[in-house]
Amino acid sequence: MTDRYAVFGNPIGHSQSPRIHALFAAQTGQDISYQAILADKHGFAAAIDAFMASGAGPAKGANVTVPFKAEAFRLATQRTARAEAAGAVNTLSFEQDAMIGDNTDGAGLVRDLKHNLGCDPGGRRILLLGAGGAARGVILPLLLERPADLLIANRTAETAARLALEFARLPDCAGGPRPDGTGFAGLAGRQFDLVINATSAGLSGASLPLPPGVFGPRCVAYEMVYGRETPFMAQARAAGARVADGLGMLVEQAAEAFFIWRGVRPRTAPVLAALKGS
Ligand code: ATR
Repeated sequence: MTDRYAVFGNPIGHSQSPRIHALFAAQTGQDISYQAILADKHGFAAAIDAFMASGAGPAKGANVTVPFKAEAFRLATQRTARAEAAGAVNTLSFEQDAMIGDNTDGAGLVRDLKHNLGCDPGGRRILLLGAGGAARGVILPLLLERPADLLIANRTAETAARLALEFARLPDCAGGPRPDGTGFAGLAGRQFDLVINATSAGLSGASLPLPPGVFGPRCVAYEMVYGRETPFMAQARAAGARVADGLGMLVEQAAEAFFIWRGVRPRTAPVLAALKGS
């Protein structure tokens, strides 16, 4: 019997996850099926139920994308520490009597930075742009890497301040620096080694009011959006930064989910190359 997995979202047609997991399964010799399921905006739990009840093989897990990550968080009967910190779940594992919720987004970002881009967040001055779900999901994994500094900057300054305070309250700041929050105006005169764009501005083609000085020497600029050149990427390039988009994070968060489910860590480089080639 083939173990079954699926990604749930709305919309879901654009999802690369079925292709990524099929490539992981072929590479590691794992016998799984993985499909994309469009769930009704108000029917996430029902869609999960239907998936578990249907099909030939056992349903073993699911990935969850926009707009269901918060609902998956509530639906999970157990949650990992990183899912708790993120306030969102993107990976569910179906066990005998439990539905375990995890969040692999932050780990995916950190792995992409360290292993694919040669940019270890440890000791770096990090600027995180945005204070929504995407930003929240990566803060704990970044702090665990012990950067020199973590500043959260957001269009709405209060949201950044609130988010920073929430993580500053973690015991010992999870081993990292005490994060701080500001509006974009607070970036004047500041300089960073790693600038991560977790805003959704790029999706609407909007640019961010960043002083060019924020991109320090040998700075890496990371755009979480993928598949397009965003104004942030252009700004960073013009300021001399090394620029990456979020495709590597997408593949790495999938690899982390695959590892949780199957206990095997797939090699991501060939999968990333295959996605870039098409
Ligand atoms: P996500 O889950 O992608 O993080 P979200 O929770 O809606 O989505 O958060 C969107 C983030 O992008 C927020 O930080 C938002 O800033 P505000 O808190 O001020 O709304 C940011 N954002 C969206 N469009 C933006 C724009 N045009 N300029 C600057 N920031 C923008």
